[in-house]
Amino acid sequence: MAPRYHVVTLFPAMFAGLTGYGVSGRAIRDGLCSVRFWDPRDFTRDNYRTVDDRPFGGGPGMVMLVEPLDLALTAARVTLRRQGVSAPRLIYLSPQGRRLDQAAVAELAGAAGLVLLAGRYEGIDERLFARHCLEEVSIGDYVLSGGELPAMVLLDAVIRLLPGALGHADSAREDSFVDGLLDCPHYTRPERYMGLEVPTVLRAGNHGEVARWRLRQALARTLARRPDLLERRVLSPLETELLGEIRREGDAASAASD
Ligand code: ADE
Repeated sequence: MAPRYHVVTLFPAMFAGLTGYGVSGRAIRDGLCSVRFWDPRDFTRDNYRTVDDRPFGGGPGMVMLVEPLDLALTAARVTLRRQGVSAPRLIYLSPQGRRLDQAAVAELAGAAGLVLLAGRYEGIDERLFARHCLEEVSIGDYVLSGGELPAMVLLDAVIRLLPGALGHADSAREDSFVDGLLDCPHYTRPERYMGLEVPTVLRAGNHGEVARWRLRQALARTLARRPDLLERRVLSPLETELLGEIRREGDAASAASD
């Protein structure tokens, strides 16, 4: 069964970018997954369709009311249960959450159903956590003005991993982070542009050499830009050998520039 993604948001129209374009748009059109929206305003009882109020204890900004969110989340869960998804994961996008990484994305891509809650204002009434088992997920250490963009980031990363979403079966496997390393550089035609050449090894047609070059480039980039990724990773003998070469060359280069 194609996974079902439900999003609770005050601004469903923002998601047109995700649902209408590119890899995610095509995956939805092809029925690889479905995305449905729930607007908390549709679960209000007053004429103004109020979804927020001032915080108890004072302070700046507004807090999202518990009831419209509680009812919207319940509606999403009940709908999913009727559709055969009995225990969907409920995710609240928030800077307080666990930081999203490729391993978490891969795990979420295996879920039959997800309910994403995109908040606005200063946040949500804390009592919502007592009503629903919400996981908090952050997309990075910076603050956005709402959870819609983070929800789209998460969904885009998840949907492109669904079987059939990417043209090439290999494209997702070779992405940055999949293997715990950054991606290698890529080139396409022309072979020479403004005097800049495509590396010879990529044009020579020796697949073994190409694979070795790509791995070496990925390791060199990871060492230069994200050494923390290498510390967490168990290296293969070839990777250890290549990394040794890279480090020695780096030493040679910095010694030459002293
Ligand atoms: N909402 C606001 N900022 C966010 C972030 N960095 N990650 C997830 N949700 C957010």
